[in-house]
Formats: sequence, structure tokens, C-alpha cells
Amino acid sequence: MSETKNIMEYETVELDEQEKAVVIIDQTKLPGRTEIIRLKSAQEIWNAIYLLQVRGAPAIGVAAAFGIYVLADAVETDDYDAFLTEFTKQKEYLDSARPTAVNLSWALGRMENVVLENRGKSVAEIKELLKKESIGIKEEDIWVCRTIGEYGLSLVKPGDGILTHCNAGQLATSKYGTATAPIYLGQERGYHFRVFADETRPLLQGARLTSYELHSAGVDVTLICDNMSATVMKNGWVNAVFVGCDRVAANGDTANKIGTSVVATVAKRYNVPVYICAPTSTIDMNTATGADIHIEQRPAEEVTEMWYKERMAPEGVKVFNPAFDVTDNDLIAGIVTEYGIARAPYTESLQEIFRKKEAAKAAKQK
Ligand code: MRU
Repeated sequence: MSETKNIMEYETVELDEQEKAVVIIDQTKLPGRTEIIRLKSAQEIWNAIYLLQVRGAPAIGVAAAFGIYVLADAVETDDYDAFLTEFTKQKEYLDSARPTAVNLSWALGRMENVVLENRGKSVAEIKELLKKESIGIKEEDIWVCRTIGEYGLSLVKPGDGILTHCNAGQLATSKYGTATAPIYLGQERGYHFRVFADETRPLLQGARLTSYELHSAGVDVTLICDNMSATVMKNGWVNAVFVGCDRVAANGDTANKIGTSVVATVAKRYNVPVYICAPTSTIDMNTATGADIHIEQRPAEEVTEMWYKERMAPEGVKVFNPAFDVTDNDLIAGIVTEYGIARAPYTESLQEIFRKKEAAKAAKQK
């Protein structure tokens, strides 16, 4: 189905409770066509994540949570052990779709805990709890993004120029985005930011998604090629870089879309602060440094022919196509989370962020 309302009015990921389906905008078709697709089988959900029909770390997590609920709900057994065996098989399958964004295994792990912690309950009750958890993951994501937006907004002032890379926008989350959240909040409050969106080769998330959603929201956005960031920074047009992330290691090293570390290196040269907007669901304290992060390698065709009318590289040429790179922690001015802004040394400040998270959780349970 192709639809025409403003892209900002759509839900990035939804659960259709009646039809038992994960409903997404097929992001590979944007900005030309807005096609809503319904995913029901394990293969459809896995493909949607792998092919980037749904993408961006938080949105992948929400899609996986809804996905595993839909698959678990279809398991026909009243026996807990048989249910757990099937659940685990489907969970591991979905988890294999993409390796770098930790939100995928984080969301699936949360769903798995629901099954493991409720062994004494009937399978029907566990299915209800899985639905509730998946909806909770999405609702939390909205709060997390808005809160990151508030902290991010405190780092800039009205009229500032902001550069972003890839799409860490509403299309990558449930609402607001992470790196775009300060921009949308600033827009609500009349900050008149001037935003530069890197086109983001090879899959053009910046051109197809970020510039599309910001433009649709009425933000002053200028699309630039990936090799133009030095020019706009040298011209003094950029006061801050806001980017998202797929996995932050315990020492602050950050994996994000390929090219982020180039932007951060250039930003250092021009004294522009680089802020990583990171929900705590994207911070992996079990990964010590960036060197331990598994970087996804993607098909050569994404570089040689995808998005081109004709192939733009000789047949048989060698291609290196990592989907992400790691920005070293010394290039990062701050990591903006929903529990505050972590500053170097990150090994300590990120632990403090998680202490705050635990304290907030404990206070809520009282
Ligand atoms: O390959 P993608 O499009 O899933 O990569 C997305 C990014 O790198 C985003 O910056 C990141 O996931 C953060 S989204 C809030």
C-alpha cells in the first residue's frame, strides 16, 4: 500500500494486535514511496532487519521485540519446556539478522527474561506478558529519545549549525530520534537550527531519510555529500555534531554508521564538539573497547550498483563494505544518554550513568 501523509505522522514500527503482525514503513522505498508492510513470519522479520526495511538501532530493537512476540504467540503448545525451546530457536534466529546494533540482542534478551522469570505461569499468561513487554520497550524508547533531546538541547544555542551523519532520526526510533531529538525539541521552541545532513554512502540514509524527515518537519536542513564535512566546518557553519550509535563500548569507543569516525576526526581539526546520542540500551558494558565490537560487512553490490541507474564500478573489482566504524573515545566530547551526559573518562562516567539508571528503577519499584 502506498500512502501520502507527512512522513512525521507515521509510526516507524507498530504492533498490529489483531492481525498479529509487525507493521513497518519499508525504509528502502523512501523518500519516493511510503509503503507500509506487515511482517508475520520469522523469515519476513529477519529479512526486514537484514535488508534495512527497518533500521537504526532502537527501531531494530522494537521490531525484534514485536517480532518475537508475534512468533511466540503463534507457538501452539501448553507445555512450558516445548514453548521455551521454540522461543529460544526463534530468538536466536532473529538475533542473527545484524551483529553491530546491540539493541537487537538487548531487546530479545529482555523478552527472553520474561519467559525465564515466569516459568510457573501458563503459556497463555506468558504470551500476554510478552506482549506487554514489547509494548513497554516501544513506549520507553519514546521517553528515552525525548529525554536525550532535552540533554542534547542544553549543549547548543539558538541559531547554531548542527551536522549529523546517517539517520538517527524518528525513522530510526519510535519517535524524535536520538541525534535529531535536540533538533526537534529546538524546533518546538524556536531555536532555528541550521542542520547539515551527510548523505551517508553507500545506502544514503542521510539523503533518503534524515534530510527527508527534517525537511518534512520544517527544519532548515542542507544535504551535503560525505566528503563535504571539512568544507562546512572550515566555513564555521557547524557548532556541534550530533550522531547516533549502534554500540558504545565500556570505554566510550562508539560504533556508528561508516563515516562517523571521519566526521569526528575532521571535527577535532576544526574544534567542533562531537556528541554521541546514546540510549543506555545501546551502551554495552560487556564490550570493553571498540576493538571488541563486531562490525557488520555488507554485500559489495551496495557500493557498486545499488541506487545507481547503471553499475558505477567495473565488474569484478574488489570491494570493502563495512557498515559501521568505531569512533575513538578521545574524539568524543560527550555521550548523551537518558540519564545525563557522560564525559571522559568514559570508563567511570558510563558506570555512573548505569548507577543512576538502577537508582531510578529502584525508586519506581518502591
Ligand atoms: O545501517 P543502519 O541504517 O541501521 O545504521 C544506522 C546508524 O548507524 C544509526 O546512526 C544508529 O543506529 C543510531 S539510530 C538512533
